[in-house]
Parts: sequence; C-alpha cells; structure tokens
Amino acid sequence: MHFELTEEHLMIRQAARDFAQTELKPGVIERDEHQKFPTEQIKKLGELGFLGMMVSPQYGGSGMDAISYSIVMEELSKVDASTSVVVSVNNSLVCYGLEKYGNEAQKQKYLIPLAQGQVIGAFCLSEPEAGSDATSQHTTAIDMGDHYLLNGTKNWITNGSTASTYIVMAQTDASKKHRGINALIVEKGMEGFTIGNKENKLGIRGSDTHSLMFTDVKVPKENRIGEEGFGFKFAMTTLEGGRIGIASQALGIAAGAYELSVQYAKERKAFGKTLADLQAIQFKLADMATEIEAARLLCYRAAWLKDNGLPYAQAASMAKLFASETAMRTTVEAVQIHGGYGFVKEYHVERLMRDAKITQIYEGTSEIQRIVISREVLK
Ligand code: CAA
Repeated sequence: MHFELTEEHLMIRQAARDFAQTELKPGVIERDEHQKFPTEQIKKLGELGFLGMMVSPQYGGSGMDAISYSIVMEELSKVDASTSVVVSVNNSLVCYGLEKYGNEAQKQKYLIPLAQGQVIGAFCLSEPEAGSDATSQHTTAIDMGDHYLLNGTKNWITNGSTASTYIVMAQTDASKKHRGINALIVEKGMEGFTIGNKENKLGIRGSDTHSLMFTDVKVPKENRIGEEGFGFKFAMTTLEGGRIGIASQALGIAAGAYELSVQYAKERKAFGKTLADLQAIQFKLADMATEIEAARLLCYRAAWLKDNGLPYAQAASMAKLFASETAMRTTVEAVQIHGGYGFVKEYHVERLMRDAKITQIYEGTSEIQRIVISREVLK
C-alpha cells in the first residue's frame, strides 16, 4: 500500500489546476452574480478531454481512471463549483451510465459526442414530489409498441437548458413499483419536450438548473437503456459513481476556502501580528487541514475501489457525506477568518460557502448517504 499519486495523476492535477487559475478564476464572480453559464469554459474542458474522462478512447473518451476524475473535480471546484458540477454530471451521471449499460447504437449516437464534449448531457430523476424518495416516480412512459409516450415533470435538472441529451427516468408499469421504471434517452427538440424557467439559486449560480416538462413526447423504444424495468437500478448504480464526483467537488470547495484562509491569515495584521500568529486562527486552520485530508482519502478510496472493480456504494456515500459536511464547516470558518472581507464577493469565500450547501443536498442528501451507509453496516 502506498499513498503517492502517479506521474500521470500529478500531470492531470497540474493541468486542471492551471485551467482553474487561468480559465475559471477571472470571470467566476461575474458568472455567479449574473447566473451566467460557463459556455466557453465547458467547450475548452471538452477539448482537454475532461468531459468524458473515464470513457474509453473507442467512444471518444480519455480512458482515465476514477482517481484522475476525483483529482480534476477537486482542482476545478477549488475555484468554480458551477463549472465543476457540469463536469461531474456529464462524466458520471451521463457518460458512465451510457458506456456501462447502453447498447452499441446508443454509444455510437449519443456517447461519442458527449464524451468528446461536443454536447452535454443531463440526468433527470428528481421530480416535484420525488427528491430523496426516488422510487416514487410520477413521470410516466406508456408502452405504445414501437415507442414510449412520456408525460410528466422533472425538477432541479442540472444542465437543464444547455444539455442536448437527457436521460429521463419514468414509470412504465406502476404495479411493479420501482421495477417498472425505465431510463430513456430524450433529445432536446423532441416534440412535446419543454424547458421551464431557470432556477434562481443560493449557490452554484453559474450552473443551469431547470424544471423540464414532457407532454406526450414520443420516445423510440431503441432509446431505452437496458432491459424493460431496469431504469431504477440504472439510476442507483449511476449515482454511486456520481457521489464520488460530488464528494470530490465538496473536497475542492473546502480545499479552495482553506487555501484562501491560509494565505489571508499570513497577510492580515491584527493586534500587532499576523492572524497566523494567533492560536485561535492556527487551531481553525489545523482542523480544516485535518478534515480536508480525511475527505481526500475517502474520495481516493472510493475511486480506487471503483477502478479496481470492487463494490464502492458505501465508500462513495461515506466520501460524499464526510466531504460535503467538511465543505460546509470549512467554508463557514473561512468566512469567519476573513471577517468583514469574507462577507463580500471579491474574497471568494462567501461564494464557496454558498456553493458548499448544495453538496449536502444533491445526488443524495447527507441523510440519504447515512441510509446507504447504515444499510451496509447492518447487513
Ligand atoms: N445499486 C443497485 N441497485 C440499488 C442500489 C444500488 N446502489 N440501491 C438500491 N437499489 C435497488 C434495490 O436493490 C431495490 O431493488 P430490488 O427491489 O429489485 O432489489 C431498489 O433499488 C429499491 O431500493 P430500496 O428498496 O432500498 O428503496 P428505498 O426507497 O428504501 O431507498 C434510496 C432507495 C437509496 C433512498 C434511493 O431512493 C435514493 O438513493 N434516493 C436519493 C436519490 C438521489 O440521490 N437523487 C439525486 C438526484 S440526481 C442529482 O442530484 C444530479 C444533479 O443535479 C447533480
């Protein structure tokens, strides 16, 4: 056992770090303020191969491991979590599921452009009345022979208006409960598919979150992923990998706030010394550093298990639970260390604090992660 990153991991980390500093940092405050989607930045991330990181080169991806993915998510999220959530959803909720469970025609038609970053995707599970309780899907996909007739509403969909390819979970046979759910590939522009207003959010304001409405949308049978009734399992197994992405995002938000706090503590003078000379601040930094390191190890462990073909659902949930709670605690303390400066936008930590909150909610709340973890514990 060893804890060192490989040469390749270090190179990927440097590339992501450089990108975050040169391409993300300059406009990040403005994008947050005006809820502006990072269109140019996402295009460049696609060119770098960061939108299909774990997809095999055969399908337009970069063929990297999940540890590389975690590293990239951390580095981008240190600076701009609105951009990194697009990276996370495209990689782990859309590309991963398509490569693992899609058929060859679906991979050729949908996965290749998604992995190459020519288009982006969205994962549509949540509904107005089904967030954590994901088995109770109200969106219906009635079997009409050669197609499904899709009706219903999805809520809080990341990449809601910017995506081209949507994976939509819908109930075909309610008598079978979650075993009657299907995962369908829906294209933007299909008749009857409309996009609702953009959500005005507390955090990750540069990302594009919408409700989606489906009214008698005809989805061809060939757009179903996997066997009839596989949709809920598809969503759950895909979310396992997604949780590594969001855990790494939370880690990055925490690490970004911590790095800014260390720098500020060394520069800011109070009572004739720097803040870094005060034990009250030293102890805050020590706690932040310790929790961030623990979160990073949990992320890498979950990614390593995935890379090695071992079960990783519990590990991913542990990483997400701990990293997101760490992100919240760390960013609140980072604002406190910065004092009055922390409360204004120019110092970045207030944005990181607002962005941290969503990591405790999406891709399974902290409470859902505790359900997944405790079920394994008590098995
Ligand atoms: N892998 C495979 N199958 C799984 C699974 C997993 N990890 N977890 C559950 N299942 C299967 C179960 O085996 C069961 O199937 P069978 O009956 O055929 O065996 C079925 O799913 C139902 O499972 P449960 O009986 O455990 O259902 P439950 O209702 O008690 O609990 C839950 C399920 C774990 C709470 C689930 O509803 C859940 O994860 N909820 C959270 C949903 C979520 O994470 N939403 C995120 C939205 S996407 C998003 O946020 C993206 C974004 O914008 C960034």
